[in-house]
Amino acid sequence: MDTKNQGLRGVVVADTKISNIDGARGRLFYRGYDIADLAEKSNFEEVAYLLLHDDLPTSEDLSQFRSALIEARRIPKQMQINMGNWRKDADPMDMLQAFVAALAGYYDEEFSSKEASYDRATNLVGKVPTIVASWQRLRNGLDLIDMDPDVGHAANFLYMMTGERPDAETEKIFDTCLILHADHTFNASTFTARQVASTRAHMYSAASAAIGSLSGELHGGANYEVMRMLLDIGSADGVDEWIGARMDAGGRIMGMGHAVYRTYDPRARILKEMSRRLAEKTGEPWFEITERVERAAIREMRERKGIDIYPNVDLYSASLYYMLGIPMDLNTPIFAISRVAGWAAHVIEEKFAEAAPKPALYRPKAAYVGKDCGPDGCEYKPLNLRK
Ligand SMILES: CC(C)(COP(=O)(O)OP(=O)(O)OC[C@H]1O[C@@H](n2cnc3c(N)ncnc32)[C@H](O)[C@@H]1OP(=O)(O)O)[C@@H](O)C(=O)NCCC(=O)NCCS
Repeated sequence: MDTKNQGLRGVVVADTKISNIDGARGRLFYRGYDIADLAEKSNFEEVAYLLLHDDLPTSEDLSQFRSALIEARRIPKQMQINMGNWRKDADPMDMLQAFVAALAGYYDEEFSSKEASYDRATNLVGKVPTIVASWQRLRNGLDLIDMDPDVGHAANFLYMMTGERPDAETEKIFDTCLILHADHTFNASTFTARQVASTRAHMYSAASAAIGSLSGELHGGANYEVMRMLLDIGSADGVDEWIGARMDAGGRIMGMGHAVYRTYDPRARILKEMSRRLAEKTGEPWFEITERVERAAIREMRERKGIDIYPNVDLYSASLYYMLGIPMDLNTPIFAISRVAGWAAHVIEEKFAEAAPKPALYRPKAAYVGKDCGPDGCEYKPLNLRK
């Protein structure tokens, strides 16, 4: 198979024990556990531990990991001051990418050992939500709120961002969203993180690069674009016309389609039900519009291209976050709050795989199709002789 210009589709680049997608059956497993089970019964801290280690934590492991995460929640004072100097309309993903990279400059930390990488991983999982929540408050001219050591990871983020403690239902919904977004094998941002780690660069550098990768609209940026689409459509009656016009123009329907799943994304199934329940409670139209988008996109793709596409993780998370009152441009940073656990696990696996074959520095080949002046190359002409 010629894999050139196929975005590495179908190319197996390394072994992993972290997650596994069954694209034909629409199943996703973290370290062997079905995410449907984890979404129902687990919590984000436990899932982050599971991804970073080989199995679910014992109660003692979990209690230690939780304490370490709580300890890691605070960011340096100087970082808060530096953040306050940014333009208030700066994109939160740009800010997050910059400040995650900057973490390396605030601490005198060791990076080379596996143990140190676990500490850096905990630090990242603890601090990324604080960076996002702090930016949300600073850009709105609000005072920062100190973390609450008595609440879980999901509730603490919502509290630090809004100043209000979420009710139990909101906390469970948000925690489930974090579980569902935490890992997804070699997706673009995770592969970015692994690629950076393969050069032996450190954890913060890999995570920062991954954030850049996540920001694009074909990856994590899709959930922001989904919400823009829903607002643009405005009401369920306008869906068919909007989708038809978008397809006529050759545009893509964000939140639909997937590079690996050939059936319904299992995460979308769970998010859809949570969005439905929240819409019933709030009376908002966003679930109904999204469901109509799903139907119209499936129908149009079948009719026009004979292709079956299904909702991906971004379709229903958009309406869900909107109904939770989360600003649209924080959808992708929230993805990062969760996915950082997966990135960190992959960085550790990439750098410290114990069994052979160990991953090697990534270095694909390119097919050169540029200028060719023969075996000796082109003649260098001085500036004044060039036309
Ligand atoms: C995610 C995505 C890149 C995966 O695509 P893929 O399965 O690798 O397939 P391709 O990008 O090669 O697309 C295959 C065909 O289906 C079409 N297609 C795929 N997803 C589509 C979508 N969401 N809307 C419209 N057309 C779509 C492509 O235009 C292409 O048609 P063509 O062959 O006539 O050019 C793609 O589905 C997409 O762009 N989705 C929207 C962005 C999104 O939601 N991203 C988040 C992913 S979790």
